[in-house]
Amino acid sequence: MYSVIHDAIAAWYDEHGRRDLPWRTHHDPYRIWVSEIMLQQTQVKTVSERFYSPFLDAFPTLADLAAAPLDDVLKRWEGLGYYTRARNLHRTAQLCISALPQDAIALEALPGIGRSTAHAIAAFAHHAALPVLDANIKRVLSRFFAREERCDQTLWRDAYALLDAQRPYMYNQAMMDIGAMLCQSKSVTCKECPLQSGCQGQSEALRFGCAKARVAVPIRHRALLILRQGARLGLIQRHERFLHGLWGFVQRPMPYKGGALGSFIHRYTHFHLHATVYEATEAPCDEALMWFTREEIGGLALSTADHKALSLLDALSSQPTPQAPPSY
Ligand code: ADE
Repeated sequence: MYSVIHDAIAAWYDEHGRRDLPWRTHHDPYRIWVSEIMLQQTQVKTVSERFYSPFLDAFPTLADLAAAPLDDVLKRWEGLGYYTRARNLHRTAQLCISALPQDAIALEALPGIGRSTAHAIAAFAHHAALPVLDANIKRVLSRFFAREERCDQTLWRDAYALLDAQRPYMYNQAMMDIGAMLCQSKSVTCKECPLQSGCQGQSEALRFGCAKARVAVPIRHRALLILRQGARLGLIQRHERFLHGLWGFVQRPMPYKGGALGSFIHRYTHFHLHATVYEATEAPCDEALMWFTREEIGGLALSTADHKALSLLDALSSQPTPQAPPSY
């Protein structure tokens, strides 16, 4: 039914597709899985330029990842955020050890792999005739079928309806690129789009597939405590769900009594952290505190917020100590 559009997509992908992205130059299921997990909440540029190759250099195979301590995996994930992805990656590697399953349904049963990711792995590694449904493709489909509402059930039905089952690898990669390059949330280039001949939403494209309005996120005010024992700093390993496994400074509610060293804001998706860094005025007793030199801290996995606190501390310690004013 859509064979003309499928051919147009193939021709467009051949000429304009991002075929040199590092996860598109092979069909290795393990490497494709790693890329799809990294890309779940992180931009293509960040993943391709900073994280993909170093992670695979550290853990070249599924067995290497399974055998690695979780701390090492978290360290390699540092800066990517959403650390649940790294913990699930590690758990899945330990469950599978030698190879990921080929079948999308079996893939979907593994930690951290949802339906769209399972389809992406199966389509890209094994040419399974399955549609991917990431945010870009959802937008393209919403416009193509002029859907006013974004309902997952309808989107999946549309995704199957438009799929090029003969060329699922090319089709899914191309649809992602069309969403990223031509059919963006705030601007569209319909004239160059290979879906143009069948697109029902193009006359008023921006009305369809709009991103949800942003809701104001809450602000959390926290004191970050610098605890010292000689040249060592006291850190705890977090055990709560959020940032689980990462090391960081002890936090206290605000207001905190003491002289602040500085402050910064760190924006998480669900809240903004307004952090004030203090030289601790209390002796820590309630935390599983461990003491590390500055060099040892470099080898631990820390959240970006704790890195910001550390940078603040480094900047302060490299400042010349204020000199007494000259006395005449
Ligand atoms: N986002 C998720 N998967 C992707 C892929 N294979 N290429 C580009 N962006 C993506």
